[in-house]
Amino acid sequence: MGIFTKDIETMDDLFLHSLQDIYYAEHQIMKALPKMIDLATNRDLTTGLKSHLEETRGQILRLEQVFKKLGKEPSATTCPAIDGIIKEANEVAGDVADKDVLDAAIVASCQAVEHYEIARYGTLIAWAEALGHDDVVRFLTTNLNEEKAANTKLTTVAVRKGVNRKAAS
Ligand SMILES: [Fe+2]
Ligand SMILES: [Fe+2]
Repeated sequence: MGIFTKDIETMDDLFLHSLQDIYYAEHQIMKALPKMIDLATNRDLTTGLKSHLEETRGQILRLEQVFKKLGKEPSATTCPAIDGIIKEANEVAGDVADKDVLDAAIVASCQAVEHYEIARYGTLIAWAEALGHDDVVRFLTTNLNEEKAANTKLTTVAVRKGVNRKAAS
């Protein structure tokens, strides 16, 4: 963004900026997930993270479809929010000695990421609808539903599959 000029004037500009923001975020998440997969011990957790890594690749392709439908080249703009969430995830993971506690920490960090994504996609869908970009809504909705499912799966792993219990014992 320029210092002397404001790059975002219209709602369409704001929509595009947010699209570039989530496009950047998905790439950072794709880079960050393999490390979390390596660090995790619980089988349900590693399996879930691996499948979400695959989903994330698909989400990036869907975002590229959205750019295409809007007649724009896919491009990314730095998202300090996701950078911060990932930085904190790595810092906490590096500070946890016990492997069971580490699993609980990884679930928590990944849920922060999912909630961020859910917030972004929810907004993007509402803005796409308001702007009349009906042809991109289904791509964004598919991504949103995958983020919601990933978040639910993380809750299941933590609460029902014993990650939290094991970490607390
Ligand atoms: Fe995602
Ligand atoms: Fe996600």
